[in-house]
Amino acid sequence: MNDASSSELFKPSIDVIEQANVPEYQALYDYSVNNREGFWAEQAETLGWYKKWDKVLDESKAPFYQWFTGGKTNIVHNAIDRHLTNANRNKMAIIWEGENGQVRNYSYNGLNREVSQFANVLKSMGVEKGDVVTIYMPQIPELIFAMLACAKIGAIHSVVYGGFSTDALASRIEDAHSRVLITADGGWRRGKQIDLKTIADNAMKRSPTIEVCICVKNNDLEVEMEATRDFWYHDLIALPIASPKCETEQLDAEDPLFILYTSGTTGSPKGMLHTHGGYSVYTSTTHRMAFDIKPEDRWWCAADPGWITGHSYIVYGPLINGATIMLYEGAPNYPYPNRWWQIIEKYGINILYTSPTAIRGLMRFGDRWPKKHDLSSLRLLGSVGEPINPEAWKWYHQVIGNGNCPIIDTWWQTETGGLMICPLPVTPLKPGSATKPFFGNEITIVDDEGREVAANEEGKLIINNPWPGMARTIFKDDERYKALYWNEVDGKWRYLAGDSAKKDDDGYIWVIGRMDEVLKVSGYRLGTAEIESALVSHPQVTEAAAIGLPHELKGNAIHTYAILAQGVAGSEELALELREHVAREMGRIAMPEDVTFVDALPKTRSGKIMRRVLKARALGQDEGDLSTLEE
Ligand code: WT7
Repeated sequence: MNDASSSELFKPSIDVIEQANVPEYQALYDYSVNNREGFWAEQAETLGWYKKWDKVLDESKAPFYQWFTGGKTNIVHNAIDRHLTNANRNKMAIIWEGENGQVRNYSYNGLNREVSQFANVLKSMGVEKGDVVTIYMPQIPELIFAMLACAKIGAIHSVVYGGFSTDALASRIEDAHSRVLITADGGWRRGKQIDLKTIADNAMKRSPTIEVCICVKNNDLEVEMEATRDFWYHDLIALPIASPKCETEQLDAEDPLFILYTSGTTGSPKGMLHTHGGYSVYTSTTHRMAFDIKPEDRWWCAADPGWITGHSYIVYGPLINGATIMLYEGAPNYPYPNRWWQIIEKYGINILYTSPTAIRGLMRFGDRWPKKHDLSSLRLLGSVGEPINPEAWKWYHQVIGNGNCPIIDTWWQTETGGLMICPLPVTPLKPGSATKPFFGNEITIVDDEGREVAANEEGKLIINNPWPGMARTIFKDDERYKALYWNEVDGKWRYLAGDSAKKDDDGYIWVIGRMDEVLKVSGYRLGTAEIESALVSHPQVTEAAAIGLPHELKGNAIHTYAILAQGVAGSEELALELREHVAREMGRIAMPEDVTFVDALPKTRSGKIMRRVLKARALGQDEGDLSTLEE
């Protein structure tokens, strides 16, 4: 997949170079790493601040870095308010299309009215600065209103992906001690209605902290509304209290904006915490430079707002840059495999940003579906979430981009807040490589002792510097944050990404994949621990293990092993029931391909499951060093 030696070089066309926001990489890169604070201060100057910062980077509590300290801002001031006083006021901010073909549009002015109304509703419900509001919604405009309404009043949003289920939602509500949940009656997927409110009801039973549940009406599912706890969104915003005027709260640059849970090496998901100031600067700068965004562009990041990609590049970065964003609720191949290409043609989308899994999935239906459509509005294409295999890269480039759209393959993480390794449109491309570090970032590949490895050798990917978009901590767990991600070497802190990678002779970075117990399944990040605990929550399972094995479409697929309770016999029916149990508890994305019944699992003497041994066995490979395997 990442065979650097075989790669061709794709050079940008003259057109691309002539209109690029950043016409040259190397000189600006050198400047940005030698004058990191100066570079970021210049970017921050392009945004509005209620009060300018005193210090660009405060390293006094490293690795708990702080950016733009003393500055007063609010991400909504830049994402909405500032646009109301300029030509963007009447510009389209959001174009939304539902799976059944409904269309809704919001100008920046309209967006401001919606967000202000909802912000006033939240205030009337007693939501205050610093409170965590959980959002569990389908991809509809109200999801964006809810996020921005929280930010506007200084509340912290915690969005839980709408494809997750009861257990995943309950554990995230509980960790955050959320009092308020915003959800919808249901979502649409392939013509079917997903009963989000029922899942939310079950989650609320398990996590009793929720006192108020606000429900958006998105389809015609019958839902139960509990008096005094559950309220319809449309009823609330019709109340006099929901005025379309609401002051944006002036916050410190380092005040928290959101937490977003992500899977890690062990145990429960981690609530990565991001803040207003640095995140505003980082998402808008990366979006403007890497995606070359222009005022007239229509931008489509076809991710879900419930993941970091959506937070940074559907909502915050693009809105700060005053872009017009496309949002689509539904399946890419519904009713036919040309749905996305139809959307691109219909709305004149200029930039599409999606995942290798989605590209592979659509590629499978053949060229005739995209060929039915005029895709000539496309100027740039982006990829994110997992390594892109050269075959999918070339199809995306040739068939979707007609051979003249640069492919911006972006490597980053929930933790990094924004893209960290990516080409600029002017960068010569190698299919499968995310190319070079973004400005300000120094990235090296090191061995177990922390020494930089030679070119073309595999090692651990580390980031040697702080950057404004970095997560500040794990919600309520500073110690875990420091221990999981940071290493001090000769007085300098290094960030450990958890990925393995190579750098080739030209300094191009080739990310290989996760080194820890995290699985990337269809680009979704799932922890083996969460899948295992969902399995073990079934009364007939006593122990379980989950591993990822290569899969043509999904990148990786989940395979599981289960030890059954005494007296229970394994059967095909039980295997299916267990797979469905995991889907019910965690969400369909976590449903295992299979369950193998075993009598024992390979473990270390300290009792840790050796997943690499299971994986090697499944692949018929050498099991490697077994010295820590228990008898
Ligand atoms: C992990 C982070 C970045 C937003 C979506 C994922 C993998 C991400 C790439 C890429 C190779 C990639 C890494 C990383 N990854 N982008 N362009 N090439 N691998 O965020 O869910 O936090 O997952 O996704 O393994 O560590 P996330």
